[in-house]
Amino acid sequence: MDEYVRLQIAAYKAHLQGYGVEPDFMNSHLYAWKYSPPAGGGKLAIARQSGSMLAAVAVLPLWIEADGRRCLLWRAVDIATLPSARGKGLFTKLLLALRDDLGQDEVLGSFPNRNSTPGFEKIGARSAAYAPTWVRLVPPGLRATRRAEVESGDFSSGRTETLRRLIVKPGVSCFVRDVDYLTWRYSRHPDHSYHVHFVDEGPQGAGLIVFRETQTYGRRMVLILEWWASSAARAVKLLRVATDYCRERRVRYMVTVSNTFGIARGLRTAFLRVPQPLAPKKQVLRGVVRGGTAHEVFFNRWTLQMGDLLEF
Ligand SMILES: CC(C)(COP(=O)(O)OP(=O)(O)OC[C@H]1O[C@@H](n2cnc3c(N)ncnc32)[C@H](O)[C@@H]1OP(=O)(O)O)[C@@H](O)C(=O)NCCC(=O)NCCS
Repeated sequence: MDEYVRLQIAAYKAHLQGYGVEPDFMNSHLYAWKYSPPAGGGKLAIARQSGSMLAAVAVLPLWIEADGRRCLLWRAVDIATLPSARGKGLFTKLLLALRDDLGQDEVLGSFPNRNSTPGFEKIGARSAAYAPTWVRLVPPGLRATRRAEVESGDFSSGRTETLRRLIVKPGVSCFVRDVDYLTWRYSRHPDHSYHVHFVDEGPQGAGLIVFRETQTYGRRMVLILEWWASSAARAVKLLRVATDYCRERRVRYMVTVSNTFGIARGLRTAFLRVPQPLAPKKQVLRGVVRGGTAHEVFFNRWTLQMGDLLEF
């Protein structure tokens, strides 16, 4: 694992500097957690020369679903070629090996950045969905007092089953957020603690918000990873918890990535859509599929939220 961590740091150092982020979060605990989601163990494709690692791509399995059909999506992450070995086709070869390893009705997918998008295009990956970035300025103010309906707590199967009905819509694909996935994603993350709050009024009155604080571009901000609610009023109630947190901690920005709310929810909650040229990355889900069901589930309408980007 040490050599793998060194490769990751060498590959991403310059890239992360652009965001004002140090690479010290890249460590073996993070990868051990990330490559073992509930759907199974991840796979690594590695290119070596004389025994030394030059390039690597990791894929980890996640369930995706639409209209009662589930497929495994192998999510490519931590795509890295040493600066001295770039431009020789190593990344493309690793992707091809992973594509050839796909089982029936499986997907090789990713949210590639502009460095890795050409490689995905070369192996035939096409875009399936796009999620814009939204930002909200939190003016100083008093904390809200009435929020008895919103509770914090753990993910339980009852709650997540209720949430599932909010998230899974006919004709729309999503990453499966069952209790195992949410527990792995948020409760077991080795480096971050997330604030998890629910509205739990039975099947008709449910909601979830998951957020955490971070520092990027030298600015403290709150990232909204999950934000689902059965009504606009409940969505606002949940957001108020994150707003209170910002006010207490003097955090002035909230950021999310989502294609699940439009301009109306944006106006109601004062989130502004960041024009694409100003966003740090265009979050596009791209992939290649094997099999007809995988094609139908992947090349479909999608609901995406920031939590789907595993790096946050
Ligand atoms: C992205 C990365 C893994 C590509 O590695 P690589 O082994 O050099 O890639 P390949 O040689 O297979 O190149 C594949 C294609 O991508 C293009 N490409 C590679 N690096 C690129 C870059 N930095 N910017 C734009 N295009 C790039 C190449 O032009 C190539 O197409 P071509 O052969 O038709 O010219 C490498 O640049 C890297 O480690 N970058 C830093 C980490 C990173 O951004 N990872 C992606 C996170 S999503």
